[in-house]
Amino acid sequence: MPNAIQMLKEDHRKVKELFEEFAQAEEEQMKEQIVENTVRELEVHAALEDEIFYPAAEEQIGEKESIDEAREEHHVVKLLIGELKKMSSDDERYDAKYTVLAESVKHHIEEEESELFPKLEGKIDAEELGAEMESRKERLQRQPHKRSTKAKSRTRTRKSRQRSSNKRRKRASGGR
Ligand SMILES: [Fe+2]
Ligand SMILES: [Fe+2]
Repeated sequence: MPNAIQMLKEDHRKVKELFEEFAQAEEEQMKEQIVENTVRELEVHAALEDEIFYPAAEEQIGEKESIDEAREEHHVVKLLIGELKKMSSDDERYDAKYTVLAESVKHHIEEEESELFPKLEGKIDAEELGAEMESRKERLQRQPHKRSTKAKSRTRTRKSRQRSSNKRRKRASGGR
C-alpha cells in the first residue's frame, strides 16, 4: 500500500533531480524538455496536495495558518509556471525564471519535510490517504499531456516567428 508521506517525498526527490539536471543542461532543446517534465511533475504534485493531502492534514492537526501558507506558496509556483509556459528557451530570462521557480519550490519542500510532515506522522492514516492519492495521480497523469502539447506548439510558433523575423532582418541589412 502506498504511504502518502512517502509518495510526496518521492515526488520532491524527483523534482529536485530535475532542478539539478536543468542547472547542468546546455542545449536549449534539453532545457525545454526538463521544463516540460518539471511542470508536469509539479502540477500533479500540487493537485494531490491541494485536493487531498492538505485538507486531510488540516482536519487532523488544525494548523490552518501554516497550511494556508503552503497553499499560497503553491499559488506563487503556479504563477511562475504560467509565465514559464509562455516562454521559450531563447527568451532572455528563461533560465532565470526557471531558477526562481526551483528556488521557491525547494524552500517549500524544505518546509513540508521539516515541519508539516513530522507533525502528521502517526496522526493521519497515511496508507488510506496514499491509496486515494495514488488513484487520483493516475487520472491526473493521463490528463496534463494534452495541455503540455498545446504549450509546446505555442512555443514552437513563437520561436519560428522569431526565426523568420531574424531572417527578414538579415535580408534587409543586405548581408553587410
Ligand atoms: Fe506543497
Ligand atoms: Fe510537496
